[in-house]
Amino acid sequence: MSFPRDRLRRLRGTETVRRLVRETRLSLDDLILPLFVVEGHGLKEPVTSMPGVQRFSVDQVVDEAKRIVDLGLPGVILFGIPDEKDARGSGADAANGIVQKAVEAIKSQVSELCVITDVCLCEYTDHGHCGLVDGEEVANDSTLERLTLTAISHASAGADMLAPSDMMDGRVAAIRRGLDDHGFESLPIMSYAAKQVSAFYGPFRDAAESAPQFGDRRSYQMDPANRREALREMRADLEEGADILMVKPALSCLDIIADARDQFEVPIAAYQVSGEYSMIHAAAQNGWLDGERAMYESILAIKRAGADMVLTYAAAELAIALKG
Ligand code: PBG
Repeated sequence: MSFPRDRLRRLRGTETVRRLVRETRLSLDDLILPLFVVEGHGLKEPVTSMPGVQRFSVDQVVDEAKRIVDLGLPGVILFGIPDEKDARGSGADAANGIVQKAVEAIKSQVSELCVITDVCLCEYTDHGHCGLVDGEEVANDSTLERLTLTAISHASAGADMLAPSDMMDGRVAAIRRGLDDHGFESLPIMSYAAKQVSAFYGPFRDAAESAPQFGDRRSYQMDPANRREALREMRADLEEGADILMVKPALSCLDIIADARDQFEVPIAAYQVSGEYSMIHAAAQNGWLDGERAMYESILAIKRAGADMVLTYAAAELAIALKG
């Protein structure tokens, strides 16, 4: 390129030309909204650390699901917060567990919505870890059975897709086998494949009451320093039968999203996590930046890096903005 022959500003002069040369577009089709479900009736509890986000009881989450479909969004991912927790996370695979009830209620009334469920134990265990604990250790192999039973119970309730987020080794294979053995061979798995230990999950743990009661998640979630290891994690999940690979968090992992897009042919999802969302809202509330534009720009960057779909708490507000 040589100035003055090349002038990149030529294609930036008007909005119509900018539209013609725009490389990345955000569409409603790309967005998945996470929803928190609690026991009770008539509840829409605001999550203090996540402005605009609420925890819904089952009756209310159905109304929210209707609103989401009316906005034109294709899917939601459900997180359940049970009233009671124990060491083995019994609520995770209970037939009348909170997620199971929510899936049944939504699918019976808003059947066209794609209902994905998060498969993990951390919302259900009293110690807050994503697996069974043995002393101070989070046990891998005994956790696989609990996750598989949880996956089968979500499938039986009518979930359209399952998203294991625990980061145990071998869980995708175990869940795939369990689903196939129970007649759910057509149910897709979106695995949280490259999921890092992250400070950006802070607000989620308030919302889901899932902060670990001792230790941390460093023995199972990935070290954010490792880029090659993220590829190994994703390849392992793919070989075990994952249909969609997810990278999480999103904005701090754009390199990993780009690697995933480059290396694998399956759809790539990225999770704009609670902390990413809340940072933008907090700054906007202080008048420090334009929240709507900052949110749009972040999610656009996640898509530009290579994500086919983005899980984001901003899905509904973005849908409204995209329509306007
Ligand atoms: C459950 C799970 C977590 C998130 C999604 N699934 C919490 C964690 O790993 O601690 C985080 C989502 C967010 O921060 O928005 N394992």
